[in-house]
Amino acid sequence: MTRTPPPTHLIQTHGLTKHFEPRVPRSRPWEIVRRRAPQAAGEPIVAVSDLNLRIPAGECYGLLGPNGAGKTTTVKMISTLLEPTAGTALVCGYDTVRHGADVRGSIGVMFAGERGLYWRLTGRENLELVGRMEYMTGSAIRERGGRLLDHLGLADRADQLVETYSTGMKQRLNLARTLLHDPPVLMLDEPTAALDPAAARGTRRLIRELSGEGRAVLLTTHSMHEAEEICDRVGIIHRGALVAEGAPRELIHEAGLEPRLELRLSGDLQAARTALGDRALWWSDPADDGSIEAAVRAADGWRTAHALDERLRAHGATIDDARLRDATLEDAFIKLTGTRLEGPFDRV
Ligand SMILES: Nc1ncnc2c1ncn2[C@@H]1O[C@H](COP(=O)(O)OP(=O)(O)O)[C@@H](O)[C@H]1O
Ligand SMILES: [Mg+2]
Repeated sequence: MTRTPPPTHLIQTHGLTKHFEPRVPRSRPWEIVRRRAPQAAGEPIVAVSDLNLRIPAGECYGLLGPNGAGKTTTVKMISTLLEPTAGTALVCGYDTVRHGADVRGSIGVMFAGERGLYWRLTGRENLELVGRMEYMTGSAIRERGGRLLDHLGLADRADQLVETYSTGMKQRLNLARTLLHDPPVLMLDEPTAALDPAAARGTRRLIRELSGEGRAVLLTTHSMHEAEEICDRVGIIHRGALVAEGAPRELIHEAGLEPRLELRLSGDLQAARTALGDRALWWSDPADDGSIEAAVRAADGWRTAHALDERLRAHGATIDDARLRDATLEDAFIKLTGTRLEGPFDRV
């Protein structure tokens, strides 16, 4: 076996690509038979396309994209759960296809949801089992497991069955399980998606600490707040391809974004939409009281607001509330992809 020299980047991908067979619609099951004929196969689903990532030790890298962008598929390929259709992924210098066992020994992976835990065992027994599977010694499991349970606020429930845990506790135990063998590379797929705000904050703090201790962390998220708060660098993934990459502030700066004005409008909303024209970044559906929310580009700050106010009044609409905000990562995302990441607002 040839060993590559110690890599500076703990995660590296080159042209990583994954195609899936098109799914057969439940309403047309006979296509399962037809699909065997290549000419009837239809277009493959391009889940991930030509992805080049380089994540050094000590970096928290966020793969940011909406549902279906290809985040989970990327994590599955880098963690050896899926074979790439094309391209390669290296973890600590090991190729995920040729040296899968070495890769698995170097990583801790956590997927969203509550899989990966044994509900009929206690929290401590879960860690014991995982540690044994990682060939850890009993004393190492007790020592490190105990510290993790303590750190994650699970110490006083460690000897109760996992089935009695709340979602947040299960998620924290899942994180403890992922960290038990002290891997240099962590891959966390939407680690805060199922958590309440307080638990999500605690998890984010822990993730920062973990990358601060010199691990490479690959995190996926569809929350731009999360990406802005904890990631050193962010890759924006859209329809399987990386469309931009950089520190959150850098991305906002490079997108050349102006401050924006967030408005609540009432009155003749159809006319208001026309009056806002292509200055609008997004607008919401009407609320119960008939008002809508919208965000517009405001290069001149409040001066833009005053000019808009006059224009809207002339169209029979009024501004009920206005806030001026600096551009965010989400604005950069909208500019780059033409879609919003999350939230109740329409596509512009
Ligand atoms: N096993 C599969 N078979 C067919 N298509 C799949 C499979 N897994 C994922 N996909 C498709 O690949 C795309 C990317 O999915 P995924 O990686 O789960 O996105 P994300 O995690 O960003 O929400 C989606 O269009 C999804 O429907
Ligand atoms: Mg996913």
